[in-house]
Amino acid sequence: MVAMNSMGTKKSKLSFFLFSSLLLILLATLFSGAQAIKGHGHGRLSSLREATVHDIQHAFKQNQLTSRKLVEFYLKEIERLNPTLKGVIEVNPDALFQADKADQERHAHAPISLSPLHGIPILLKDNIATKDKLNTTAGSYALLGSVVPRDAGVAAKLRKAGAIILGKASLSEWSNFRSNNDPNGWSGRGGQGKDPYTMGDPLGSSSGSAISVAANMVAVAVGTETDGSILAPSSINLVVGIKPTLGLTSRAGVIPISPRQDSVGPICRTVSDAVYVLDAIAGIDYNDNATIEASQYIPKGGYAQFLKADGLRGKRLGIVRDLNSLAIGNDTILSRTVEQHLDTLRHRGAVLVDNLKIANLREYYTSSSENILLLAEFKISLNAYLSELVASPIRSLADAIAFNKKNAKLEKIDEYGQNLFVEAQATNGIGKVEKIALANLTRLTKEGFHKLMIKNNLDALVTPGYLVSTLLAVGGFPGIIVPAGFDYEGTPFGICFGGLKGWEPKLIEIAYGFEQATKIRKPPKF
Ligand SMILES: *[C@@H]1O[C@H](CO)[C@@H](O)[C@H](O)[C@H]1NC(C)=O
Ligand SMILES: *[C@@H]1O[C@H](CO)[C@@H](O)[C@H](O)[C@H]1NC(C)=O
Ligand SMILES: *[C@@H]1O[C@H](CO)[C@@H](O)[C@H](O)[C@H]1NC(C)=O
Ligand SMILES: *[C@@H]1O[C@H](CO)[C@@H](O)[C@H](O)[C@H]1NC(C)=O
Repeated sequence: MVAMNSMGTKKSKLSFFLFSSLLLILLATLFSGAQAIKGHGHGRLSSLREATVHDIQHAFKQNQLTSRKLVEFYLKEIERLNPTLKGVIEVNPDALFQADKADQERHAHAPISLSPLHGIPILLKDNIATKDKLNTTAGSYALLGSVVPRDAGVAAKLRKAGAIILGKASLSEWSNFRSNNDPNGWSGRGGQGKDPYTMGDPLGSSSGSAISVAANMVAVAVGTETDGSILAPSSINLVVGIKPTLGLTSRAGVIPISPRQDSVGPICRTVSDAVYVLDAIAGIDYNDNATIEASQYIPKGGYAQFLKADGLRGKRLGIVRDLNSLAIGNDTILSRTVEQHLDTLRHRGAVLVDNLKIANLREYYTSSSENILLLAEFKISLNAYLSELVASPIRSLADAIAFNKKNAKLEKIDEYGQNLFVEAQATNGIGKVEKIALANLTRLTKEGFHKLMIKNNLDALVTPGYLVSTLLAVGGFPGIIVPAGFDYEGTPFGICFGGLKGWEPKLIEIAYGFEQATKIRKPPKF
């Protein structure tokens, strides 16, 4: 196994070199007569490879780049890298058509061309419905050929912002809710996704969204989180993930796990890219009533105004050492890096409130309440999603289980199983046990995370890695994860800033301040 891995790495390095030489020539041709994006100074290829939304818009305005050329670039990168990384499950056959349309709109100075995402290619996790030639399957053959009634709420908003739907990102199948034994980043349709830094576990379930932006197969991406599914893959693929306040972004048309915890959010290379995506997808969608209440949190003028270089000044940041040690363990390199980051936060004007305790922290991680509730909620909400489809090979969770049995080889049922499907199918709505579980979660939040934040007058809780996700998930709270470095094995990790409902403006100020002070992300070299 180990020997095969090192062979594989060598081989891909060589082919990377060959391909990048070829690509350089190709790009030189594409860009003939035009300068590369300004303000970067290095080669043309590397400029486009790490280009931010801001860089791209600048190049559009200077007539140095078109959406068509950008889409062609990403399509070639997908062709080159995706057979190995498997971050993309489907490419949109209409992407070039949409690019040409965007180029025409920009040329004609159409109002839509002023939107930051206009003409920018985006990948959507394969559990987010699009009413176009793309399938929406959560990575499972059971939903291949299903016809969705309409675009998901977030997909509709992205189209309205002028974004180009480049395709669907791979994921842990069924957003990691089929089985406890299937590998992160694996799905029947998508195969095994790989972290471009380690060529190993990409975590999940929004693995493909994180892999694809990390490896520059797309400009920006969207994922979903029920508990950790944006924060974890963002951490290990060294990108930025925002898990918004519950209901800030619409879940309508998203293959669900739980309306009480599901959240749709950006996965991007930089905080500002993620904020542009958040601005495009946040807001009311009458197909998801939770967006109505949450819309009270959306600041006038949107989120981009909080991208302030001195965003850390005066912020009170809480540190719970027990929670940190979950991520750090005995890794001295990780520990040292985290301490350096805490110093940086202090130097940039934040007030660190250290050695805080959460009385019920153990219960968050040992309680079965979340699982009990998710199993029941999954059955109800998946059945509702399936019943809304215009056409579908399956119409219920029971059908999905039967499909998997019948297609055991395709879906690796003998190897990975479907224990969560079976356990969910055995539930019977929100009964007595589920109500107790819900009361438990409400109590955990009230006496735990919420109390911690209010009592200490915090603006955010800072934690290395993504393990704080459960505290945020059960409370419907937002979190932003930003690249922070590498552990003793060279595996990337992020630093997470979490807050209470509607605290995105503060979290963005803090995350952006940290990112600008550290600039840790480097593209993977595989
Ligand atoms: C969607 O799935 C069908 C098979 O049912 C396939 O023929 C089609 O190419 C897929 N769409 C895309 C965009 O890959
Ligand atoms: C949203 O709420 C309205 C009013 O209570 C209700 O009529 C409608 O069915 C709800 N929509 C959804 C998608 O639940
Ligand atoms: C950390 O501890 C584990 C055992 O719990 C051990 O396998 C590993 O080598 C240790 N790592 C370091 C960096 O000391
Ligand atoms: C609720 O919490 C209590 C105390 O931790 C625990 O004993 C019980 O099993 C939980 N019940 C459910 C249904 O989650």
